[in-house]
Amino acid sequence: MANIFQQHKYTIAIAATGAVAGFAAAKLLSSHTHAVPVPEQNQHPTPIPKPTPDPKDEEENNIYETQKYVNEYLLLHYGEADEVLRHSFVPMDSLEFPRRVGKECLDAYRSVDKSKLPNRAFDVGCGLGRTTFELAREFEECIGLEQSQPFVDACNKLKQDGEMPYNVCEEGDVHSTYTARIDARVDRTRTKFVQGDACDLSLDFGQFGCVVAANLLCRLPNPYKFLERLPNLVASGGLLVLTTPCTWLTQFTPKKYWLGGHYDQNGRPVTTFDTLKRVLGTDFILIEEKNMRFFIRETARKNQWVVTQATIWRRR
Ligand SMILES: C[S@@+](CC[C@H](N)C(=O)[O-])C[C@H]1O[C@@H](n2cnc3c(N)ncnc32)[C@H](O)[C@@H]1O
Repeated sequence: MANIFQQHKYTIAIAATGAVAGFAAAKLLSSHTHAVPVPEQNQHPTPIPKPTPDPKDEEENNIYETQKYVNEYLLLHYGEADEVLRHSFVPMDSLEFPRRVGKECLDAYRSVDKSKLPNRAFDVGCGLGRTTFELAREFEECIGLEQSQPFVDACNKLKQDGEMPYNVCEEGDVHSTYTARIDARVDRTRTKFVQGDACDLSLDFGQFGCVVAANLLCRLPNPYKFLERLPNLVASGGLLVLTTPCTWLTQFTPKKYWLGGHYDQNGRPVTTFDTLKRVLGTDFILIEEKNMRFFIRETARKNQWVVTQATIWRRR
């Protein structure tokens, strides 16, 4: 079982440096996507050998399907300050990350001309749904999409009941029970949670005034597939909000599809931000880039502190 620290290491993204890598081919156009070419130096000459599945790796491969992660993400999304962090010396400004992501979307949305935009928002890789619920403060229809069925089930339970009890590990087998609650001022009927794959989004989703994907990119088997779908998913003039801790791991993404964290053919480091600017630049204008901090609590005494890189874009 991979240590959780290997999954979300504290990462400061390096600002764009050096030349952008060359492309393997010109853009391929399809009916509903802009095919994004993968840089040549990212392509393996021979197929990556697939290891024989080992039952003990099952939990590692499907980490978001486990109850442990449902509980950890319920705490990340809905935990009160004293439930997440017990000590006075810890950075309290790292709490409520999914609420703050929703606020980034809503603040940016206030500054765009909404007259021709669909009043709909899409939270891709929504986790336990906190950002989706926050978006419902403004948007009449908010779709939260998740690959993990247990996460979707928990989101639907929260939508239905407005609250949900869950267990949090203190140490070893000792747990505390907390309750996740949705703000009563949020109209939960505006939300809809669906199971799906961010790399294979149906045309039936239509277009949105705002699309957000928080800490999703480096969990995808092929993030280029998701990026190439975005120009048709975000309505012209609409917003795209991405956050990523740039924790590229072969456990989730084959190296040839890493957006950053590798060297180009001239030996210069390529960052995720470099690639996002290159791939999204044709269809989106970068409005803002900033760091956002957050905590994921594992036990009472073990937490991950992550600095994720947020970028806000407007569709041309
Ligand atoms: C690091 S979590 C982030 C969750 C949430 N956005 C947040 O900020 O807390 C990544 C999420 O992406 C989901 N995910 C991974 N691969 C996905 C895919 N192909 N399509 C949709 N969701 C996916 C995982 O189940 C997990 O909930």
